[in-house]
Amino acid sequence: MRSEGALILGIETSCDETAAAVTAGGRTVLSNVIASQIDVHKVFGGVVPEIASRHHLEAVNGIVSEALAQAGVGWDDLDAIAVTKGPGLVGAVLIGLATAKGLAFALGKPLVGVHHIRAHICAAYLEHEQLAPPFLALVVSGGHTSLVEVTAGAAGTQVRLLGATRDDAVGEAYDKVARVLGLGYPGGPEIDTLAKRGDPAAVSFKRTLLEDGSLDFSFSGIKTGVMNYVHTQKQADKPFHAADVAASFQQAVIDVLSEKTRLALEQTGHRRLVLCGGVAANSALRARMQKDCDGRDVTLFVPSPVYCTDNAAMVACAGYEAFQNGDFDNLELDAYAQLAL
Ligand code: KG4
Ligand code: ZN
Repeated sequence: MRSEGALILGIETSCDETAAAVTAGGRTVLSNVIASQIDVHKVFGGVVPEIASRHHLEAVNGIVSEALAQAGVGWDDLDAIAVTKGPGLVGAVLIGLATAKGLAFALGKPLVGVHHIRAHICAAYLEHEQLAPPFLALVVSGGHTSLVEVTAGAAGTQVRLLGATRDDAVGEAYDKVARVLGLGYPGGPEIDTLAKRGDPAAVSFKRTLLEDGSLDFSFSGIKTGVMNYVHTQKQADKPFHAADVAASFQQAVIDVLSEKTRLALEQTGHRRLVLCGGVAANSALRARMQKDCDGRDVTLFVPSPVYCTDNAAMVACAGYEAFQNGDFDNLELDAYAQLAL
């Protein structure tokens, strides 16, 4: 089977982005089309799963056609269809899955189910030709905060979870804090912008580091700290400066991410770090990680912001390896709300 430069169609519908992309040889992005539902969910202050599914259903066929058109690729040119199988909102994942299965069946092409978090990690390959395992990945998204070790094995890439959040994911904490501060959804980009005008040392929120040596995370304490601070100020009729709170919250989160990553690098000895997932679009986090890595002689690989937040190019990239290994799924492939790495 032809795999050099193989054309993979990726489909991603696990949350509130309907996305399709075509990559050649896994790493060359020929098209990357994303229809965001942010405006739809904004009025509710968060993603409403049922509404997300309906919008995926309405958008997905047009988005897939657009991805092929932009890539200048016909249906018969495709070598495989890769699709996010989970973790995610199961009704939303199902729409992408049904679309991919329909295409794979009608076109007689292989179907490859992709783990969403593996796809986020693979996003780093898209613009960094020189990146190869072994490396450490810090995945920071709306649903996950994980430290993952990526190594190359005989059967392809192996991933090992070193640590994960025990409560809120970091993106979730950003979104909740944004709501308390009266900012829009999604909160991450709003806090990113607002924090630039604030003092990160204005309020000291507790950095939760858990047991000595642990690579797990906990962000619920920082989130609750912000909520308590805002409520206390309001109750006492005292003014508070939202930009200062945003900057102080962000500083606390980044300090924890920085410290856990330092520890993971020390424990594993890796000299390459991938920062990925929606929160990796955060300007202060990117700057801090770069500074940390420069000081530790570690090379940092961060995707461009468009490949940090949900997209289908990363799904096609992750699907490429499975395609090369002949690791295909059949039409019984399920959608998963939770899925181990
Ligand atoms: O990876 P992603 O697009 O979806 C999931 O897999 O969850 O991540 C979405 C999360 C949201 O919580 C959003 O607020 C956050 O990423 N995010 C950011 C920024 N852009 C997106 N957080 C902080 N700063 C940003 N610039
Ligand atoms: Zn994601």
